[in-house]
Amino acid sequence: MLGNFVYSNPTRIYFGDNAQSHLAAALKEFGPKVLLVYGGGSIKRNGVYDDVVAALYEAGKEVVELSGVMPNPTYEKLLEGVKVVRENDVDMILAVGGGSTIDYSKGLSAAAWYEGDAWENFWVRQRNPEPSQRLLPIGAVLTMAGTGSEMNGGSVITNVAKGMKIGKVFPERLYPRFSVLNPRYTFSLPERQMVAGIFDTMSHIMEQYFSGDDDSTSDYLAEGLMRSVVNSSRAAVKNPHDYEARSNIMWSATWALNTLIAEGKKEDWMVHMIGHAVSAVTDATHGMTLAAVSPAYYRHVMKYGIHRFARFAEVVWDIRPEGKSSEELAAEGIDALAAWIKEIGAASRLSELGVTPAQIDPIADATIIFDAGYHKLTREEVVEILKASL
Ligand code: NZQ
Ligand code: ZN
Repeated sequence: MLGNFVYSNPTRIYFGDNAQSHLAAALKEFGPKVLLVYGGGSIKRNGVYDDVVAALYEAGKEVVELSGVMPNPTYEKLLEGVKVVRENDVDMILAVGGGSTIDYSKGLSAAAWYEGDAWENFWVRQRNPEPSQRLLPIGAVLTMAGTGSEMNGGSVITNVAKGMKIGKVFPERLYPRFSVLNPRYTFSLPERQMVAGIFDTMSHIMEQYFSGDDDSTSDYLAEGLMRSVVNSSRAAVKNPHDYEARSNIMWSATWALNTLIAEGKKEDWMVHMIGHAVSAVTDATHGMTLAAVSPAYYRHVMKYGIHRFARFAEVVWDIRPEGKSSEELAAEGIDALAAWIKEIGAASRLSELGVTPAQIDPIADATIIFDAGYHKLTREEVVEILKASL
C-alpha cells in the first residue's frame, strides 16, 4: 500500500431481513424530537413507513415529518428543510429512502444552523463546517442500494437556479450514525431503479480502480466487489426477489463507496463529473447517466492506463489474454462492460435519457474537470465523449 492514510468509519450498520428490529434501540441514543425525512411516498406504499413509525413510537419520540425529497435533491428544497428544522428545533434527522433522501439529510444537517451561504461555502468552495458549528446527528433507513450514502459523507445537491449539481464529501461528523439495511426493503424498487443502483455501484468501484499502476490491496478488494456485483446483477435481473442477490448488491454498494477501496489511491471520478452535469441539465437518473457515458469515457482514456484496463478485462470479465496485445485485451474489457450494460437494461446511450445534441454544450459547461485517474480531460475531450455517448 503506497500512500499514507487514516482510516475510520463511524457508521454502525444493522444488516439483514429483520434489521429494522434494531431501530427503536438505535433511536433511543438520541434526543426526543426526530425529523423524519423521506421522498415521494414509496415508503408509504411498501410498508417501510409503518415499520419506521412503529420504532419511533416504541422509542418514545416526538416526530416532525418532512417529505417530498426528490431524486437529484435541490438546494431550494434544502432551504425549505432549514426552515422546518429552525421552527421545530429537532434533535436528530432520520432519513428513510435512497441516496437522495440521505444526501439531502446530510446537507440539511450542515445548513440548518449555519449562518453563512451554505451552497457557496459547502458545495462550491468545498469547505467543512467549523468544529463549533451545531450539526444534527443523522440515522438512516436505506430503501435503495447504489449510492453508498448510508456509510459515507457524500451529499450531492442540485442548485436549479445555477444549473449546477455538486457533490460535497462531508467529514465523519456528518456520516450517518447508524444505517438500517434490509435488502427486502429494496424489493419494491422499479426494475429501472434497481438497475440504476447496480450500475452506480459498479461505477463507484471503477472510479477508484482506474488510477495508479502500483500493486495495491485496494485494487484487489475492488476486483472482488466488481465480480460480486456482476454476478448478483445477473441473478437480480432474472429474479428481482432473489434475496441473496439483492443482499449482495446492497452490501457491495455500501463497501463500494465508504472510503475503504480508495485508501492509498488517487481515484478518478470523471464519469461522475460528466454524469452529474447530465443530471444538472436534464434531471436524468444518476446511475443511468453513468452507464450512458462510461464506455465512451473509458475507450477515450484507456491508452493512458493500458495495463490496468487489460487487468480489468482479465480479472473482472474473465477474458483470456493469450495471443492478445494489452490494447486488444483492454478494448475487450470495455466491450464486455458495454455488453453488460445492455444485458442488465441500463442506458447505453444518452439519447435514451432524452439528451439532445443541443444539450451537449451546456452539459460540457456544467462538467467539473479534475486532474484525476489516468488523464486530465480538456473541455473539447468532454464534448467528444458526450458526442460518442449520444
Ligand atoms: O422518492 P421515493 O418515493 O422514495 O422514490 C424513490 C425515487 O423515485 C424510489 N425508491 C427508492 N427506494 C424505493 C423506491 N421506490 C420503490 N421502492 C423502494 N424501496 O427510487 C427513486 C430514486 O431514489 P433516489 O434516492 O433518488 O436514488 P439513489 O439512491 O440512486 O440516489 C441518487 C442521488 O444520490 C446521489 C446522486 O447524484 C443522486 O442525487 N449520489 C450520492 C452519492 C453519495 N452520497 O456518496 C454518490 C453517488 O455517486 C451519487 O452521486
Ligand atoms: Zn454514483
